[in-house]
Amino acid sequence: MKRQDSIVKPLLTDRWPLAAANSIPRHVAVIMDGNGRWAKSRGLPRTAGHKKGADALRNIMNACRNAGVSYLTIYAFSSENWKRPESEISDLMQLLRHYLQQELETLHENKVRLRFIGDLSPLVKDIRASIDDAVEVTAKNSAFNLTVALSYGARQEILRAARRLAEKISSGALKPENISEEDISRSLDTSDLPDPDLLIRTGGEQRLSNFLLWQSAYTEFYFTETLWPDFGQAHFTEALKDYARRERRYGTAEA
Ligand code: IPE
Ligand code: IPE
Ligand code: MG
Repeated sequence: MKRQDSIVKPLLTDRWPLAAANSIPRHVAVIMDGNGRWAKSRGLPRTAGHKKGADALRNIMNACRNAGVSYLTIYAFSSENWKRPESEISDLMQLLRHYLQQELETLHENKVRLRFIGDLSPLVKDIRASIDDAVEVTAKNSAFNLTVALSYGARQEILRAARRLAEKISSGALKPENISEEDISRSLDTSDLPDPDLLIRTGGEQRLSNFLLWQSAYTEFYFTETLWPDFGQAHFTEALKDYARRERRYGTAEA
């Protein structure tokens, strides 16, 4: 089932066959990997790679909007990334702080709704406050949906969902035999997001690293060697072209 999208910009229809232009993913998820290696290969500190990675994000967000993608979900920091050296974590947090301060106005002007998924409790207070503020300010926007997975791990998310459902059961609000897939989806951090259609991982690794395990049951994967700071509009267009060639069958017989 491919989404028939009417808001495809002429730029894409000019270049692509019409069939491909109709196959724009509604939701793209990205594992932005390779910042450290990008920096290392230039003899720079890892932070330089993360900084450059933030620029790549701006480009990809624009590319998404130009292509008619409505949801972009980015893996910014995993539950497991807390195991990194303190100095790298604090550099990343500083970058996030800066990003939130700098970009909020532009995001809001562009009618972007910002969401965060993950366990935000280990984050420092001021960042949590900025996040709450950004989410609240942009809550009514609907032109584009940017979701940041921060301190996020899919297994931890599923565990939190299981606890929520267990509480409903112990209070008598839900019976075990009545738990549905919908109940689980609605108990996840992504409750108000569609499942991703396309998941891109840059940096050469071919694994999920604890990202969106439940939600990606029928997601199309695109792996590229390109390091995240080098991933630009042209690379993104390549990924979309590749996606457009896929046939999504969801377990049904071939069309
Ligand atoms: C991804 O880049 C960004 C984060 C995980 C925060 P990495 O920092 O993992 O870069 P590599 O994989 O070491 O090159
Ligand atoms: C995944 O990248 C997490 C993010 C991009 C935020 P990692 O670099 O942490 O993943 P592994 O350790 O290579 O699996
Ligand atoms: Mg990495």
